[in-house]
Amino acid sequence: MNYYTKETNFYGNLSPEKLIERYGSPLYVYNESILRERCKELTSFVSYPDFKVNYSCKANSNLSLLKIIHQEGLHADAISPGEVHVLLKAGFKPKEILYISNNISKEEMEYVIAHGILLSVDSLSQLEQYGRLNPGGNIAIRLNPGFGIGHHKNVITAGENTKFGIGLENIPHIKQIAKKFNLKIMGLNQHLGSLFMKGDIFIEGANLLLKVADSFPHLDFVDIGGGFGIPYQKQDNEPRLELIEFGNKLSEMLTKWAQDYGKNVKVMIEPGRYIVAECGVLLGSVHNIKQNHSTRYIGTDLGFNVLARPMLYDSHHDIEIYKNPPSCKFDPHEKVTVVGNICESGDIIAKERLLPKVDEGDIIGIMDAGAYGYSMSSNYNNRLRPAEILIDLEGKDRLIRRRETLEDLMNCFN
Ligand SMILES: Cc1ncc(COP(=O)(O)O)c(C=O)c1O
Repeated sequence: MNYYTKETNFYGNLSPEKLIERYGSPLYVYNESILRERCKELTSFVSYPDFKVNYSCKANSNLSLLKIIHQEGLHADAISPGEVHVLLKAGFKPKEILYISNNISKEEMEYVIAHGILLSVDSLSQLEQYGRLNPGGNIAIRLNPGFGIGHHKNVITAGENTKFGIGLENIPHIKQIAKKFNLKIMGLNQHLGSLFMKGDIFIEGANLLLKVADSFPHLDFVDIGGGFGIPYQKQDNEPRLELIEFGNKLSEMLTKWAQDYGKNVKVMIEPGRYIVAECGVLLGSVHNIKQNHSTRYIGTDLGFNVLARPMLYDSHHDIEIYKNPPSCKFDPHEKVTVVGNICESGDIIAKERLLPKVDEGDIIGIMDAGAYGYSMSSNYNNRLRPAEILIDLEGKDRLIRRRETLEDLMNCFN
């Protein structure tokens, strides 16, 4: 088995054992160098001159990571006042944030307007509501181009079976409402869905949006969406998303379109996962091993309160086993089911996975857990969210969010 963390010197000057000893288990560990590398890959992805990467901070909104992402020159998209709050604290300017809304209240709209952040609406009714609240204001529109993509039905965010976006047949209505309230449509955006591994489908979607953009002559930007995938099955040599040819093709299309459009238009993308997934590993501890009928269960402290993706989407995460105490002995592999400590039978991280022999006391590493890991964690079963630490460019560890305490569970009752 190839160990991703060894190849990347993921833990810097430390070891998983040392980290757990120092910060407790479970623990989210992030590697700064990988984070910066992913940011750079996407900021230099196309040669189209007016190009911006908006980091979709729903993937991970840890303050320290956001600061690094901002330093790397990314802007952001947000979907809630909570995300805006943290983005502003991390140093993002209101002009660097696009608020991509869905079913928001009048109060939430007022919050966004008051902060000077551009709002994108995704229904005619919300466009009307915005017009009433902020006549003469600037607005963006989230369109649904009619088809979507994604690794699971729940993350396909365009097409017929989703709540998102305004259908293209409603474009005349969009224009009518904008005229009625004297709104300036600054930009169009779309997001087809999450996790594509071939650029062509994304280019097809972008092309569709650009065609629609032709009928809006005064745009400042088009945002062609996120969804850039990462290889979750590295141990099986899954190839990466090929960015060079993809970027070249996209640049060519954008440049040609901008010439025909006749005005300088900014082009944005809104990736989340690609930026943060691979810089994060979730460490946990093996507390129990048992055989139940034909299944060998590895019982850990990694319940779906800590990492929800396997339970929610049947997602695969590669797993590394760190013997505790460390050993260089080669152990035979065994097929096991790795589970957490939550009171539900679906609390499974990996089903019937072939792993090096695991013993109680070993440490387990869940790879590529930086996106939709901590941000989807919860207090279900009144369990506490783990700490998050950063391995910096010098290989040193730094606590970037403390572990919750029992007192944190009582905060809202005070
Ligand atoms: C509107 C929008 N933009 C961007 C993203 C980021 O997607 P990904 O993390 O797959 O790049 C999402 C994810 O749900 C989204 O809903």
